[in-house]
Amino acid sequence: MNKTNVAIIGGGPAGLLLSHILHLHGVDNVVLERQSRDYVLKRIRAGVLEFGTVQMLRDVGLGERMDREGLVHSGSMLAWQDEGSLLIDTVKYAGRPMMAYGQTAITEDLYAARDRAGGKIVDQAADVALHDLTSPQPWVTWTKDGRQHRVDCEFVAGCDGFHGVARQSIPADVLRTYERVYPFGWLGIMSRTPPLDNLVYAHHDRGFALASQRNPMLSRYYIQCESDAQPGEWPDDRFWDEFKARMPSEFARAVVTGPSIEKSVAPLRSFVAEPMSYGRLFLAGDAAHIVPPTGAKGLNLAASDVHYLSRALEAHYRHGRDDLLEAYSRTALQRVWGAERLSWWLTQLLHVFPQDTGFDRRLRLNEFQYLRRSERALATLAEQYAGLPF
Ligand code: APR
Ligand code: PHB
Repeated sequence: MNKTNVAIIGGGPAGLLLSHILHLHGVDNVVLERQSRDYVLKRIRAGVLEFGTVQMLRDVGLGERMDREGLVHSGSMLAWQDEGSLLIDTVKYAGRPMMAYGQTAITEDLYAARDRAGGKIVDQAADVALHDLTSPQPWVTWTKDGRQHRVDCEFVAGCDGFHGVARQSIPADVLRTYERVYPFGWLGIMSRTPPLDNLVYAHHDRGFALASQRNPMLSRYYIQCESDAQPGEWPDDRFWDEFKARMPSEFARAVVTGPSIEKSVAPLRSFVAEPMSYGRLFLAGDAAHIVPPTGAKGLNLAASDVHYLSRALEAHYRHGRDDLLEAYSRTALQRVWGAERLSWWLTQLLHVFPQDTGFDRRLRLNEFQYLRRSERALATLAEQYAGLPF
């Protein structure tokens, strides 16, 4: 393999989904992934799909297991200490349900689809480097099994996540970045227990908590924690006690606890890199942007980036049109910033910040009460949480 149409850096959801869709359009590609497949598949990530993402996966033949195992729900609950709760009803206000289906499962489905199609995925590709990105013939090099490899291509898709090499290949005088780091993290656990009926985002003076789902016998729970918290400081009993203390009793009573099968701490940040393209390099997914998980937008943004980029590359190869490639960054960023704003707003609303004053706490409470009293306010939140159409 020394030539391909598109070299895709990164074998996570963005890279694999792009590889799969390009294959369906007859565009040859290769995925270069730094880690082993086993390592990629062990990553635990969010699991809430917007309807647009669900439809996209169905449209490209990846809906069978998702529709069998995924949990469809009409939105998520917001619960507030001593103030009750409300349903962000995405069906009522946006006409679109949500689907709980883990990113790990999606990645498994993508790997299986690429394997069935004989897709070229190079794992443990070390020292990936991008070359001649502003020429019509960029090329990519990497090391594997002690040997240097090279592939010549026409386009490079940077799907290598926040810590990848692609974004760093854009010259510093071209790239603009925007970032907000939050003064807390999320401690998450997975347990083989039945989840609550709905996703529940809870605000409490003690901190934020979230009850989520993976399948009828797999649950995901989070609590806000210190940025430098260590999972080892949180034995299961301590986690469950704190989680239930933050949930209103109507939900805390329904929680089925059990031993954690995974426990990890994730930092929270908002980040956007502009532009999302440079010469023949196009960024997609976490390589270009990060959202705090409060809005469950990370995977859905990766999907919408891939929707725009695969459509643009298909137009180039099938119709000789480059207008969609030229508009890619502007088109994708419009949706990225919408998700960044929603995720930031929900994070500000639901978490306790170290520098909070009584004024901040009253403002937050009034925001929640306004959502409970105003259908228009709730409809605005629901249409953004559901995800605006691609
Ligand atoms: N060379 C090759 N591969 C790399 C490199 C590199 N230099 N750097 C990173 N990678 C790989 C990582 O090992 C990872 O498998 O790129 C992949 C990037 O995958 P993700 O980080 O999952 O990003 P993305 O595919 O955009 O998916 C976004 O994943 O992190 C979550 O919350 C995020 O749900 C969102 C989704
Ligand atoms: C998850 O299920 O992991 C999850 C759900 C909703 C979020 C974030 C994470 O907002």
